Amino acid sequence: MDLAAFTAALPKCELHLHLEGTLEPELKLELARRNGVDIGQRTVEEVRATYAFDSLASFLAVYYPAMDVLVTRRDFHDLAMAYFRKAASQNVLHAEVFFDPQVHVARGVPFADVVGGYHDAVLQAQRELGLSAALILCIVRDMPVESAEAVIEAVMGFREEVVGIGLDSDERGNPPARFAHLFARARAAGFKLTAHCDVDQEDSTEHLRQVLEDIRVDRIDHGTNVVDDPRLLQLLRERGTGLTCCPISNSFVTDDSKAPVIAQLLRSGVRVTVNSDDPAYFGGYVTENLIALTRQAGLGPDELIQLQRNAIEISWADEEVRERFLGELDAYEALAAPDL
Ligand code: HPA
Ligand code: ZN
Repeated sequence: MDLAAFTAALPKCELHLHLEGTLEPELKLELARRNGVDIGQRTVEEVRATYAFDSLASFLAVYYPAMDVLVTRRDFHDLAMAYFRKAASQNVLHAEVFFDPQVHVARGVPFADVVGGYHDAVLQAQRELGLSAALILCIVRDMPVESAEAVIEAVMGFREEVVGIGLDSDERGNPPARFAHLFARARAAGFKLTAHCDVDQEDSTEHLRQVLEDIRVDRIDHGTNVVDDPRLLQLLRERGTGLTCCPISNSFVTDDSKAPVIAQLLRSGVRVTVNSDDPAYFGGYVTENLIALTRQAGLGPDELIQLQRNAIEISWADEEVRERFLGELDAYEALAAPDL
């Protein structure tokens, strides 16, 4: 067995995946047809030709308009179910996935249809694929604070369907502190908290400080710029706060996958994980991200196992899912690692 085959069959946990970022060109075209939305592209090649990014802002300028094809509860279900099938095919056993309701609500889609459609898929994935999944509502940080307040109010009626609250979209000029009151309210209601601190942003260190010290998130999405500040790195270590890293996505929004930093953090005991972010746009699901990091940083099988251990430890899965996952991981290590 080679390392790529070992990686493909490895039991995995995905923690940084935007459902709207899994909209493959084929499904986008099908939904556009189904809903009579004119998207200006007619073939898969034409859709793919629009996927050229060199910054977070240029990516988001393609990403948000693409969501117009999502209209009905069934559309949200179909999008999530297509992703869960793909994830199961890569041996993902547990997935915590983001969604951006503000964008859909602003287009006139009822909040309950967004959450309802995604949750229908979560239940179906559990039933048909044995995949454990949970939803994380992301605040879209470059939309008006009032629109974030409205979805946080709305999600209070969906405690069973949504496990946590995150923060995504364009970080520039949109510090986490703007949403501190909403994070505080969500925590009090029992939601877990995470926030994007994208790579190499203006004010990266201050934004990391806000999420760690002021908001006290349970984990951080991306967050590798924590190495720029020894005090914050120490705080991250003391708390055991995890980072959900996405090497292929990094290489699109900056010119660097950050593989050496991710590997250095992993080797120094920080709970880093490897994830896929927006795989339809960046061309890699979790297996491809793990293989990319393995090649660039020279990871070994023990480090690939450690990444999955970190992921389930910082996940918000039930105790039962956690134990089953760790059991499968131990069994896999015993069976497959000696063959390498
Ligand atoms: N960063 C910020 N916003 C996003 C991302 C990301 O990685 N993916 C989708 N929206
Ligand atoms: Zn992301």
